[in-house]
Amino acid sequence: MDLTRFTLTNYNNLPNKGSVTWSSPSNIALVKYWGKKEHQIPENPSISFTLDACKTITELNFEKKSKTDDSFSFKVFLDEVAKPDFHPKIETFFKRIETYIPFLKDFHFTIKTRNTFPHSSGIASSASGMSALALCLMSLEKQLNPNISGTDFIQKASFLARLGSGSACRSLEGDLVVWGNHQQIEGSSDLFGVKYPYQVHDVFKNYHDTILLVDKGEKQVSSTVGHNLMHGHPFAKQRFMQAVHNISKIKDILKSGDLDGFIALVESEALTLHAMMMASNPYFILMKPNTLKIINKIWSFRQQTGLPISFTLDAGANVHVLYPEKDAEQIYKFIKTQLVEYCQNGHYICDRIGFGAKQL
Ligand code: DP6
Repeated sequence: MDLTRFTLTNYNNLPNKGSVTWSSPSNIALVKYWGKKEHQIPENPSISFTLDACKTITELNFEKKSKTDDSFSFKVFLDEVAKPDFHPKIETFFKRIETYIPFLKDFHFTIKTRNTFPHSSGIASSASGMSALALCLMSLEKQLNPNISGTDFIQKASFLARLGSGSACRSLEGDLVVWGNHQQIEGSSDLFGVKYPYQVHDVFKNYHDTILLVDKGEKQVSSTVGHNLMHGHPFAKQRFMQAVHNISKIKDILKSGDLDGFIALVESEALTLHAMMMASNPYFILMKPNTLKIINKIWSFRQQTGLPISFTLDAGANVHVLYPEKDAEQIYKFIKTQLVEYCQNGHYICDRIGFGAKQL
């Protein structure tokens, strides 16, 4: 794999100091990434809706070291509070991207970050957090390489974000992003996310995602551990093939606006993800009793009303309730009166499809 296009060379005149800020959203996968090879290469392609309300805002302050040494120098603050427990993850990220961003050790960085969603909501901040940080670093790189094209900028930012957290590479643009090479998606790559390049039916515009916070605690099994359990998993091969097939299927669904097809595919993807966890060795369950109660309520409401409500899950107990704008009023009323009681402390987040990261 030729990675030279992602490596910055021939630069000089490092700025003495400065600051850049990016806001980057979270995303929710419709076809899931679950299983990876070395260097954060996904076992199968995935596609996600970019979210709008759930985002991370990161300010990167950089100051040239008086003398370059062989260490990364940075401090991280979440909501103005120093977070030394974030250091190992960022240190790992810096190590992985150092070849491509060779000036990392020339600076001291102060990373000030905040999320629009509560930290303890059980919503992973790694996608929005890593993409925001990757974009900040690219803005610094742009100061050394001002002629970088818009496409190269965004692709390299996505490439870097992927090395921080796989799903983060799908958070830079909107409203649909594909990550992972797929024969029928032109331009798709295992190395970075690309904006979905085909026609999308109007029914998917402004699609809603109401996130029901069933369990706000720390997950017992991290995504990284879960991905690794796909190595030697008895159903891995079939699962990866199924995801490839589902990307082909969703292409037709997105074009035609076939909501029944959408619901069937997205819910099957969510349950298959959790089925993989339950069939891993060691096995584990991230859903909670209230996750299942919500799913059953959604199914009976859909049967009774014929309304196109559906759900998806990420690697946790929370439920993402998906529905089109045209039915939002009735479905939101149902959520408020019948589903919110299953949320921890009644907490939920009203989100919808969004359009990607922004420099502030
Ligand atoms: C279930 O991107 O969090 O949300 O690459 O190890 O950081 P790492 O994993 P991560 O995994 C996300 C898994 C998922 C499905 C998805 O977003 O596609």
